[in-house]
Amino acid sequence: MSKAIENAAEAVEKDIQKASGSPYRLGYHIMAPARWINDPNGLIQWNGEYHVFYQHHPYDVKTGSIHWGHVKSKDLVNWEHLPIAIAPDKEYDKSGCFSGSAVDNNGVLTLVYTGHVEEDGVITETQCIAESTDGIYFTKHPQNPVIAHPPEGASHDFRDPKVWKHEGKWYMVIGSQKNKLGNVHLYESDDLLSWKDRGAIVKSDGKLGFMLECPDFFELEGKHVLVFSPQGVKAEGDKFQNLYQTGTLVGEFDYANAEFKYGEFTELDAGFDFYAAQTFKDDNGRRILFGWMNMWEAHMPEQEHGWAGALTIPRELTFNEEGKLLMKPVKEMELLRGKKFTVGPMAVSGTEKLEIAGDCLEIIAEFSKENASSFGLNVRCSEDGQEKTVIRYDAADEKIVVDRNQSGAGEGGVRKVKIKSSNTIKLHLFIDRSSVECFVNDGEAVMTSRVYPKASSTGIELFVESGEVNLLSLEAWNLKDIWAR
Ligand code: FRU
Repeated sequence: MSKAIENAAEAVEKDIQKASGSPYRLGYHIMAPARWINDPNGLIQWNGEYHVFYQHHPYDVKTGSIHWGHVKSKDLVNWEHLPIAIAPDKEYDKSGCFSGSAVDNNGVLTLVYTGHVEEDGVITETQCIAESTDGIYFTKHPQNPVIAHPPEGASHDFRDPKVWKHEGKWYMVIGSQKNKLGNVHLYESDDLLSWKDRGAIVKSDGKLGFMLECPDFFELEGKHVLVFSPQGVKAEGDKFQNLYQTGTLVGEFDYANAEFKYGEFTELDAGFDFYAAQTFKDDNGRRILFGWMNMWEAHMPEQEHGWAGALTIPRELTFNEEGKLLMKPVKEMELLRGKKFTVGPMAVSGTEKLEIAGDCLEIIAEFSKENASSFGLNVRCSEDGQEKTVIRYDAADEKIVVDRNQSGAGEGGVRKVKIKSSNTIKLHLFIDRSSVECFVNDGEAVMTSRVYPKASSTGIELFVESGEVNLLSLEAWNLKDIWAR
């Protein structure tokens, strides 16, 4: 293990006790043992095991000199921490090992990442490689950086390589910027060391912003999907409300002339805290996504407790019959289920407190909307009614609303998303101490938010504002705390 990694591990250790005692500490999400994390990196199933890396600052609860943290799992839900994989200890990455991906190169687990250097006010970003044969300890390649310069005429913003293999060749998509507009370049290689620029496959015309971070490009059910995180997209009604966005372009791609024909930019998650998502294909052929469950510049109350940031639960991507991209919790989440509760079927009017309570819960509630103007679930409710996080369906405009104005510490606000007309509304919630992930109508819309209620605010309520709804069914489970000591 390098000295830089040993030092980093010692630094993190100083906040582990404080972090594990934090009332906001999550029970079944990926976090660093303590201190700062941001983007998911290097997602891969390698030798049968799932590996997830993440942007990690071991020296503080805010971003700084970025390392790659590392966890692995046999089943996508029970994770174990591994030593920090790479530290910024070389001339070419000395200010940070920025985001990137992982591939299996003939049995060698190979990380491809951005070396970030800031010196005398000048920023340089290059692409680098680190290799491991045991999946734990990594060695940086002597030929680093393997891409030493941004594309012709581009700015220094050149980062977040996502690499995959197609018909015997390696390909990479990477975020870059030219004339203050973001774009995604495609590169090609035979050996991961020498790369050829095939040009931009997506260029912002201004509407897509000034920088496209964390691109990821893959084929799904015969279509090509680019997941990426643009900076500088303007808010448009309910859409694009966060500081930065993460979304998709779906279309057709032709490798021969590197041409991508695509439709509208669509946000992937309409909540408050979702960014820099990445995907991988697992051994079962599923396309699985993790996002960073925070937003740049957001207030993160857990920082007072020696940690900051987490990844979302893993989500499977599929298309529905209408060609809409769906995001659903992976089936393995069921492995976390403990005690089960059921409610209904029954008619609901007014507000009804349920027997179920908790801060690590899964809830699946299906409603038939009848004549109610709005209805839904209040979660993380306090006894005195002062605290609650509201998940509501508004019938007049057919929108799902997440209202965290009474969610406790942290930022308030409201997010809304329009859903397709339907008589039944299914809300599938994953509640974890300081997060709520809400999957609507089997993945048609997803809203992910951090919330910071008091530990004692564990109540769950059903509510209907004017009129009546039928609760067709409600199932809930206590979920396991995988990090419990
Ligand atoms: C996205 C991002 C990436 C960069 C990383 C740095 O959140 O800004 O573009 O590689 O974070 O930590």
